[in-house]
Amino acid sequence: MKIIRMRPSGKELAVEEGESILGTLERNGFALPNNCRAGACGECKCKVLSGDFDQGLVMDMALSEEDRAEGWALTCMAKQTSDVLEIDFGTEDAKPKLFPPRENVYCVVVDKFPRTPSIIELRLRPLGQPLRFWPGQYVTLGDRSAGIPERCYSIANIPNRENEIVLQVTRVKGGQTSNWIHDTLAEGDNVVINGPYGTFIGDPSADTPVLCLASGSGLAPIISLASAAFLRGGFRHPATILFSARTRDDVYETGLFAYLKARFRMFNFRYTLTREPNPGGLEGRLPAQLPSLFPDLSGYSVYIAGSPGFVDDCAAAALALGLPPERLHQEGFVSQVRPETPPRERLVG
Ligand SMILES: Cc1cc2nc3c(=O)[nH]c(=O)nc-3n(C[C@H](O)[C@H](O)[C@H](O)COP(=O)(O)OP(=O)(O)OC[C@H]3O[C@@H](n4cnc5c(N)ncnc54)[C@H](O)[C@@H]3O)c2cc1C
Ligand code: FES
Repeated sequence: MKIIRMRPSGKELAVEEGESILGTLERNGFALPNNCRAGACGECKCKVLSGDFDQGLVMDMALSEEDRAEGWALTCMAKQTSDVLEIDFGTEDAKPKLFPPRENVYCVVVDKFPRTPSIIELRLRPLGQPLRFWPGQYVTLGDRSAGIPERCYSIANIPNRENEIVLQVTRVKGGQTSNWIHDTLAEGDNVVINGPYGTFIGDPSADTPVLCLASGSGLAPIISLASAAFLRGGFRHPATILFSARTRDDVYETGLFAYLKARFRMFNFRYTLTREPNPGGLEGRLPAQLPSLFPDLSGYSVYIAGSPGFVDDCAAAALALGLPPERLHQEGFVSQVRPETPPRERLVG
């Protein structure tokens, strides 16, 4: 049996046939940041201290030649080939903190309706055991038998009595799965999801005010985190959500946020419009507005979700305003289109 040994803790995990390094860690509840699950974003990078692995197909921009030479692996795609693989897991005591993800969770689409001209909301109800997840995590959805690739979608709600999973999906021009969800998937259909995945979750150890920045359906995990913090957790610090939308029609979830605002004096929600005037409100891109809205972020925790460009620009702006890097949490909605086959000499054995 193959074993992954986590350093420095020395904890060992048994590897199941065909599993990626990330898959083994997740099945055992260990949190390693990850995002695209397709070798494209570089989030799941981990240093391999000893042992051999097959890296599989990944993008050069996610794992450079230097990274490879230094022994880094993209764990979402890497499969170990030696009996023992030692990885640098960072923490002394390596404690599992996530719910192990499940494959093939059968659900029925109990509701489907537009939230904006480009975002559809799906409510999925599992037929079997409820899916346990942390607010901010995501699932994958697709239809393998129909050739629809599985893509990542953030859960937009918190665990509820009906055990529903709420997803908010933006139509991407030419996109396989998002257009299938928008045009083909219907109320009453059976779907299969996998998950939960991801580490874009609240950090209970951070006793600070919170700023959340979101664009488009990047609002989904933020809704989940905000609902958990206020409706479940009794969060006691100021928390602001700044949402970036192109037009007023693209702004949604205003009802829930109005409720949170009315009930919790510490909560605030504001939106900016980037493609049309917003009389009396914010206009233009969020990164440019941050310095006047939050001139000093040194005492904050910041959560950012949305398109990769938006996330990168907001992260750079927040760090420039003094945000400590360890309190920056980000979820870029990276494309999961599989990388092209690299030249043979690039394949690491
Ligand atoms: C962790 C995570 C969470 C996510 N959560 C959500 C979510 O809650 N809601 C949501 O709508 N999406 C979310 N996404 C994005 C989602 O997983 C898909 O990437 C998206 O739906 C496009 O898939 P597709 O199959 O329709 O398009 P594809 O067939 O993958 O792509 C078609 C073409 O569009 C380009 N493309 C792909 N995505 C985008 C984009 N966002 N903007 C512009 N061009 C693009 C591709 O490069 C390709 O050229 C998330 C992604 C990640 C990694
Ligand atoms: S490269 Fe592994 S999660 Fe993106």
